[in-house]
Amino acid sequence: MSKKFQCPSGMHDIFGERYENFEKVMEVVKRNASIYGFRGIVTPVIEDSGVFTSGIGRSTDIVEKEMYSFKTKRGDNVSLRPEGTAPVMRAYLEHNLYTRPQPIKFFYFSPFFRYERQQAGRYRQFWQFGFEVIGKGSPAIDAQIIIAVFSILGDLGIENVKVKINHIGDEKCRSKFKLALRKYLKEKEASLCEDCKKRTKENPLRTLDCKKCSAKENAPQAANYLCRDCREEFQKVLEFLEEMEIPYEPDPLLVRGLDYYTGVVYEFVSTKESSLLEIGGGGRYNELSVSLGAEEEIPASGVAMGVERVIDLMKKEGKIGKNRENPKVFIAQLGEMAKKKALKLFEEFRKAGLDVAESFGRDSLKSQLGRADKMGVLVTIIIGKEEAIEDKVILRDMESGKQEKVEIKNAIKETRKIIKERKSKSSPSF
Ligand code: HAM
Repeated sequence: MSKKFQCPSGMHDIFGERYENFEKVMEVVKRNASIYGFRGIVTPVIEDSGVFTSGIGRSTDIVEKEMYSFKTKRGDNVSLRPEGTAPVMRAYLEHNLYTRPQPIKFFYFSPFFRYERQQAGRYRQFWQFGFEVIGKGSPAIDAQIIIAVFSILGDLGIENVKVKINHIGDEKCRSKFKLALRKYLKEKEASLCEDCKKRTKENPLRTLDCKKCSAKENAPQAANYLCRDCREEFQKVLEFLEEMEIPYEPDPLLVRGLDYYTGVVYEFVSTKESSLLEIGGGGRYNELSVSLGAEEEIPASGVAMGVERVIDLMKKEGKIGKNRENPKVFIAQLGEMAKKKALKLFEEFRKAGLDVAESFGRDSLKSQLGRADKMGVLVTIIIGKEEAIEDKVILRDMESGKQEKVEIKNAIKETRKIIKERKSKSSPSF
């Protein structure tokens, strides 16, 4: 009898109920991606290993221990992708996407590979969905990526999740923090594992996510080394989250296991199933572009969620949300104060069950209105500087071109009226 083969260990076949759950998550991700203005990207499963050694960092666990790397017949060093951010940035630079209107907003839903030690929730081939915003950075963008994730989780019936969040500083304040951390680790050297002894020299931040030694408990915290700009930036992200009632918890020791992060970093965890690993994570990564060959830093921010872990949680919480329709409303904004109000209004529309889209990454009103037009929405809501001060919005009926100013608190009611009118006009009469 010939040998009976098995799926490689740490990998799985997807069929039956598991396949249907995958499809469900994919559907909800795609719908939300379109609502929040993200377009799809698929990069190759294999990349030049340098994309990851330079991008993620040589002294990270992923690069040191977990990559599937090999030489091609021609002798090129390649690796199966362990994550999606570095390949997306590689694609952005390779195709000169910085010459297009910024930011570029991509989403992906793809398999990734890490040679991990086998345990529940850790696979060697796993799936992620991710969002990357490249070419513009702001607290509103950071916050909105987190909000988009909560929107997806909500649509999947997952409610018991919070985001643990920290800010690890820009290059300048991070190097002060590293110096202090290195000094602390030197004093604790005897209690460090072999890996952390090495990391103290090469990359002290990595010691903070070591599962083996407990040196991190009284370690210096990044928050105490932030410059004024970084502190303000962090504060703004938290304000946005508060405004949106996103459950968050500052975690002063959170650094994440990839070297490319440069500012705000966060992880999504279940508030009920404490035994579960984090379901996703992300943050700002302004310096990744330079590690991958760009001459200048390019602001960027993103997140990736583990699909298997999201499905586990979806099954535990036992609810599947409803599908939403294509957006009928678009919210455009001009100015910092208007952006804040627009973000809040966006979530109010969503909670009220109205399908709404935006383009908060774009600052020009013209390009936002162009996008609204392309999407074929029925109503565009415009919040300019003046409206933001007056607590008002402009409602534009896209078919008649008629505009009126209304109180922000009546925006949902007035928008519903226009949509109802349009629907009754377009429904066939028999
Ligand atoms: P990460 O934290 O390495 O971040 O992975 C994101 C998520 O992928 C994890 O929170 C987890 O849910 C899932 N995941 C990771 N490894 C495994 C595994 N072995 N088995 C199952 N699930 C796993 C990144 O990958 C970054 N690229 C996130 C990002 C995007 N940062 C900025 N943009």
